[in-house]
Amino acid sequence: MLDNDILDAWDRESLFHPSTHLGKHTRGEGTGRIMVGGEGAFVTDRDGTRLLDAFAGLYCVNVGYGRTQIAEAIAAQARELAYYHAYVGHGTEASITLAHMVMERAPDHMARVYFGLGGSDANDTNVKLLWYYNNIRGLPEKKKIITRERAYHGSGLMSGSLTGLKAFHAKFDLPLERVLRTEAPYYYRRAERDMTEAEFTAHCAAELEALIAREGGDTIAAFIAEPVLGTGGIVPPPEGYWEAIAPILKRHDIMLIADEVVTGFGRLGSMFASPAFGLEPDFITIAKGLTSAYAPLSGSIVSQRVWDVLVQGNDEFGPLGHGWTYSAHPIGAAAGVANLNLVDELGLVANAAEVGPYLTARMEEALGAHPHVGEVRGIGMLTAVELVQDRTGPVFFEKVGAAAGEVIAAMGRRGVIARAMPQGDILGFAPPLCLTRQEADTVVEATAGAVREVLGG
Ligand SMILES: Cc1ncc(COP(=O)(O)O)c(C=O)c1O
Repeated sequence: MLDNDILDAWDRESLFHPSTHLGKHTRGEGTGRIMVGGEGAFVTDRDGTRLLDAFAGLYCVNVGYGRTQIAEAIAAQARELAYYHAYVGHGTEASITLAHMVMERAPDHMARVYFGLGGSDANDTNVKLLWYYNNIRGLPEKKKIITRERAYHGSGLMSGSLTGLKAFHAKFDLPLERVLRTEAPYYYRRAERDMTEAEFTAHCAAELEALIAREGGDTIAAFIAEPVLGTGGIVPPPEGYWEAIAPILKRHDIMLIADEVVTGFGRLGSMFASPAFGLEPDFITIAKGLTSAYAPLSGSIVSQRVWDVLVQGNDEFGPLGHGWTYSAHPIGAAAGVANLNLVDELGLVANAAEVGPYLTARMEEALGAHPHVGEVRGIGMLTAVELVQDRTGPVFFEKVGAAAGEVIAAMGRRGVIARAMPQGDILGFAPPLCLTRQEADTVVEATAGAVREVLGG
């Protein structure tokens, strides 16, 4: 193994890190760690420090680290056939088997899954397919996509445009055209907080109706949303939100893209979130939990009505001009098959339904009354702690993100990793779905200790 000093130097000289302060990192002022191993909910860094990873990497290592069953499936696939493409009808046993397994788990009205590499490219695929779909239907004007403030749908050109976080647009000349934005169902951060939950839901629905009326429903192809706002703050929707939004979309023939990159494959305690919220999307985006990040793989699941039009379009105009060299990559697919089998064998969906709410409840007990904690919220195996300057109001911190950053650093010293969510002071928790109650207690203890160390109380 390389000595640590050389690795540090090579890192600063050679590796262009994503979503990183490049100058600070190059000058050695960054906060990154070099990881070398992992088992269950724990990772180990190159200094031998063992940390409980309460964000499962980037909420993706759902089955936990060190699963040899998946490692062996990847190795076996690499030995047998590391690659063959999926163009012009080609396939591999792994890609076909995984597609079958995904469709067995997806809602009944879904028809096929297209495999890509990550959530960003899957959302780009969804938009392209949607435009193709409406061109084939003879509706060339019906192309705009509605997204929500604070959404996260990736950081490609279109997927980044659909994202609603400032850092992903500023200085990048994004968003692209054809993207419309409506209010996020995130009551706690509103300037005016004079509504009941039911009134807020009605307000969000009315805002959407007004936007559609302004733009014209015949120019809008789809509404894209995470069933539960994720990177924008981990915010469960207010009561009745989806029941109010879905009929509006239906009425205007606006399709729903359910971005289940985070929620797919068990994080909310159900295989997919859409059916749990009564949603019938025409596209479901999947990634992360599909392989638990043991290999890169994403998917766009399309409904029967989309599929039928795509087939008609190909019959009229020739084969689909869309694909990546690595679409349906056999190594990713082998990882996916082993991963989904493991999710079932270990009962991880049920565990998320049980331990997730336990984590949120314990966090509420430990921190709910702290003077600098405005809100503790969660759903399934997703929890957030919103830090504030003053609970009354609430008044948010003037220097956005600094308090959360300090708390996360203090948690790291206590052996627990959580994530400071962007555009706020929000501690985010999305542990592996195999988390035990005892590990949840460790997370809560470290969080409460770190909050008190940094903010007093
Ligand atoms: C809801 C959602 N969609 C899409 C993406 C983008 O996925 P990727 O980073 O794999 O491109 C993410 C990533 O966090 C996400 O949370």
